[in-house]
Amino acid sequence: MEQLRIAQVSDLHVLKDYRNSMFDRLPLLQTELPANYVQVALREIAEAKPDILVLTGDLVHEGSAADYRFLKMLIDRYCDGIPVLPVLGNHDLKQSFYRGYLNEDRTGRYYYKHEQNGYRFLVIDTAVERNGCGDISSEQIDWLEQELSHASENGTILLGHHPLQSRQAWFHTDYDARLGDILEKSDVIAYLCGHAHYAEDCTICGIRQITAESCAFGVETVSDTDVIYTHTRGYNTCWLENREIIVHQHQMFPVHPQICRFAF
Ligand SMILES: [Fe+2]
Repeated sequence: MEQLRIAQVSDLHVLKDYRNSMFDRLPLLQTELPANYVQVALREIAEAKPDILVLTGDLVHEGSAADYRFLKMLIDRYCDGIPVLPVLGNHDLKQSFYRGYLNEDRTGRYYYKHEQNGYRFLVIDTAVERNGCGDISSEQIDWLEQELSHASENGTILLGHHPLQSRQAWFHTDYDARLGDILEKSDVIAYLCGHAHYAEDCTICGIRQITAESCAFGVETVSDTDVIYTHTRGYNTCWLENREIIVHQHQMFPVHPQICRFAF
C-alpha cells in the first residue's frame, strides 16, 4: 500500500517584529502573536515526523527578505530533514520571498513540481500581492494541463493558497473554466489550500478540496458584510493511502492542551 503523511500549515503570517504591522492594531492579537503559534505547530509536527510539510500561503505578513530568513530559520530549527513545500499567498511579497527564502533575485509567480513516494505535488501561485481575491493565470493553467496530461505513479496533490470555492463570502478566485475540465480528467486526488482562515472540506471539479485553518488566527463570515477575527487556530495532518485522504485537524490553544503523557 502506498502511503504518505502530509503536515499542512497554512496562513502563518510570520514577522520578526509585529510593531507597526496590522497586528499592532488588534489588541487580541498583541499577546497571541502568529510567530508563537507557528513555533508550537512546528514543534508538534517535528515530534510527529511527517513525510512532508506543506505551507499553503501567507507565510509572512507583508514582510521583508529578513522575515523570510527568520521563517526559514524556524523551520530549520524544528523540522530540519523534513521536505518543505512553500506556497505563496496574497500577504507574501514575492520579491522578499525569493530573496529571503530561496536566496534568488527574481520576480513573478512561484509554481513548481515536487515528487515523493510516487506522489506528484503541483504547487500553484494563486496570489496577487495584497489582493484578497485569488487569480490562477492562464500560464499556470497551461502548465497544469501539460503536467497532468500523463498520470503519476500514485496520484497528484495540488497545492495553492486560495480555495477554488468557499462558503466565506469575503473573497473569490478567478480562473478559466477549462481548469475544471483539466482537473476532472486528471489523477489529482486533492487540492490543499488555505486563505479562508476557516477549515472547509468539499468536492469541486471532481477532486477533494481541503481548506486548512490558519495557525495564526481565525476569520468567520457573520453576515453579508461582516467578518470577525477569532482565536480559532490549527493545522492539518493528511494521511494519504493510495488515493484515499484522511484529514485530522489539530487545534491550537493559548494554553497547551496536553494534560499528561504516559507510555503504554
Ligand atoms: Fe492569511
